[in-house]
Amino acid sequence: MGTKNILVTGGAGFIGTNFIRQVLVEMKNWRVVNLDALTYAGNLANFQDFSTSLTNRHRFIHGDIRDKSLLARLFAEESFDIVAHFAAESHVDRSILGPEAFLETNVEGTFHLLEASLKSWKERGRPKRFRFLHISTDEVYGSLGPEGYFTESTPYDPSSPYSASKAASDHFVRAYFRTYGLPTIITNCSNNFGPYQFPEKLIPLMILNIMEEKPLPVYGDGKQVRDWLYVIDHCDGLVRVLQEGRPGETYNIGGGAERQNIDVVHMLCDFLDVRLDRTGRKSSRNLIQFVSDRPGHDRRYAIDASKIRGELKWSPAHKFEEALEATVDWYVANKDWVEMVRSGEYRKWIEINYDRRG
Ligand code: NAD
Ligand code: DAU
Repeated sequence: MGTKNILVTGGAGFIGTNFIRQVLVEMKNWRVVNLDALTYAGNLANFQDFSTSLTNRHRFIHGDIRDKSLLARLFAEESFDIVAHFAAESHVDRSILGPEAFLETNVEGTFHLLEASLKSWKERGRPKRFRFLHISTDEVYGSLGPEGYFTESTPYDPSSPYSASKAASDHFVRAYFRTYGLPTIITNCSNNFGPYQFPEKLIPLMILNIMEEKPLPVYGDGKQVRDWLYVIDHCDGLVRVLQEGRPGETYNIGGGAERQNIDVVHMLCDFLDVRLDRTGRKSSRNLIQFVSDRPGHDRRYAIDASKIRGELKWSPAHKFEEALEATVDWYVANKDWVEMVRSGEYRKWIEINYDRRG
């Protein structure tokens, strides 16, 4: 089988990093071009432990998906078999305080990437094996009540500027399949967790705050439900979709692990208390503080993953509790990484977001 040349956008972020690390090890005939603007969420040091044999198949380009001329140069220079599009502004709270960047990167950036892909695909005679994989979110479907699941045909009903921007980008991707025949596929995934996640998101933020004996800010009543998926399983699912998924289709990817936020925080406290010898009255659970809720906060997400399970034979290989414990251990063992990503910008964000919640 010949080499596959893949453009990964946002490959220095959380899921992109895990994806690249996995495919370079597991898919020996894949070569990755990683295009990332290195915003606060992107970190090139995620690859510094790579051996030469892996580095040889990883080309990094520091650039922005909104830069049309850069995209034109890149697509002329490289002949991509796959575009795996991860790059995005991804944090809901940031989208509430500053939505414009979400419109610019998630909508306009995706548009420019589609345009560059379409032009190159046409110039190369519309190769059938080309894929444009758009990595999207279950948040486009809005919020569920206590019953039911998101399927691929659930109507879009986004609540936050983040999910609205992802919904808009999904519509563009689907339109490029229907109108121009570009072989696009969309995946809508539930909440990921695991190594290299930026500590603004619930799980890494709580792990670090527990370790440092800082308050654990739980929004509202803490009874919102998320469907958690270990990032390694998500990346396996994306590879399955790239190998077997049908152009024009959407695949929902979920962990089948619905948990209330407060239960996740309790579990993290308990895991770390054992490691930090904080049992009984010293329990980290004492650090929990209920703070003002996120505006427009979706109550429950839950994925019906029967399509990808049936069609592509994918299901998560890891149990939630075990993967969560492994994630805790990763953060405990990688304090240097944590220090590196907590730039001045990070500290500023924590102040702005949590001071206003009181
Ligand atoms: P992240 O915020 O950790 O990483 C985003 C990456 O994109 C960063 O490396 C950043 O530098 C890069 N980037 C941002 N703007 C860019 C631009 N204009 N040009 C080039 N690069 C840019 O995000 P993540 O959690 O890894 O999410 C990746 C993708 O998966 C996103 O599209 C997100 O919507 C989607 N997703 C995430 C989750 C989740 O739980 N994290 C779940 C479902 C879907
Ligand atoms: O569902 C997929 C989505 O999951 C992705 O598309 C997003 O990119 C990703 O950020 C994530 O969105 P959430 O808003 O669900 O994730 P977050 O980690 O920000 O919050 C998870 C839950 O925890 C949510 O109900 C809000 C709550 N929360 C979060 C933070 C940061 C708190 O209670 N306290 C906090 O400090």
